[in-house]
Amino acid sequence: MAYKTLIVEIEEHVALIRLNRPDALNALNAELMSELADAIGQADRNDKVRCVVLTGSEKAFAAGADIKEMSQKGFVDVFGKDFFTPETEEILRCRKPIIAAVSGYALGGGCELAMLCDFIIAADTAKFGQPEINLGVIAGIGGTQRLTRFVGKSKSMDMHLTGRFMDADEAERAGLVSRVVPAKKLMEEVMAIADKIAEKSRLTTIAVKECVNRSYETTLREGLLFERRVFHSLFATDDQKEGMAAFLEKREPQFRDK
Ligand code: CAA
Repeated sequence: MAYKTLIVEIEEHVALIRLNRPDALNALNAELMSELADAIGQADRNDKVRCVVLTGSEKAFAAGADIKEMSQKGFVDVFGKDFFTPETEEILRCRKPIIAAVSGYALGGGCELAMLCDFIIAADTAKFGQPEINLGVIAGIGGTQRLTRFVGKSKSMDMHLTGRFMDADEAERAGLVSRVVPAKKLMEEVMAIADKIAEKSRLTTIAVKECVNRSYETTLREGLLFERRVFHSLFATDDQKEGMAAFLEKREPQFRDK
């Protein structure tokens, strides 16, 4: 499918999805959200793809939900159509790892979209924020819940109540992003990380994603049991035999997703 608001490239085993509404700093309008859900669904179903990278432009990952479009909506529209739910559910359904490569602004829905990914690599130019309060609303794609789990209550309250922006260093210190890299090297570094993930057994990347995400959904005791059982079940795979044999034979493993 040809997209109007995205550029999608498959490079080896990595699907690179670039948000592409430069005139609106990649603001998330209905068309972009629908295309993004479609592109991520397609990447998930494409056997060649083993990792997904989501990025924006140098200036903006995404400056939030499209304010022009939202300004025309009323309660009946947003509640009646469950605004943002179908697309975010599709993104969450993806079993393949999704890395957010963030340069410039990741604000409001843009910050929330980055947090919907599995982890965030930030350029040193990145700015994160939840400024919805300045528009007379609050975050609506999970910001109050996810940002709080990433950075804790105090900083999350600060960000949501003041609408201030957090730079890349603060985001790394606070645990929102996993690494900060120079802006010029962002895509090179992120693609190298994605390539590394693509070399792993797909069974184990799915297992990691399910287990880490489970830690947000359940008690520690249940989460530990879930992890232990998934760990046990991986002993039924050829890739466990191969991974351990390769270590003992001092060679690189050849995983076959079996
Ligand atoms: N929606 C629609 N258009 C947007 C936009 C948005 N979220 N953010 C930027 N744009 C547009 C601007 O209107 C402008 O368009 P024109 O050239 O046609 O006027 C263009 O992008 C460039 O923006 P600026 O001229 O404002 O660029 P700047 O460099 O001066 O400022 C900025 C950059 C600080 C990011 C500023 O654009 C800004 O504050 N944007 C809005 C950020 C925001 O409030 N995001 C939250 C949205 S609400 C939300 O996301 C709800 C939710 O949780 C689901």
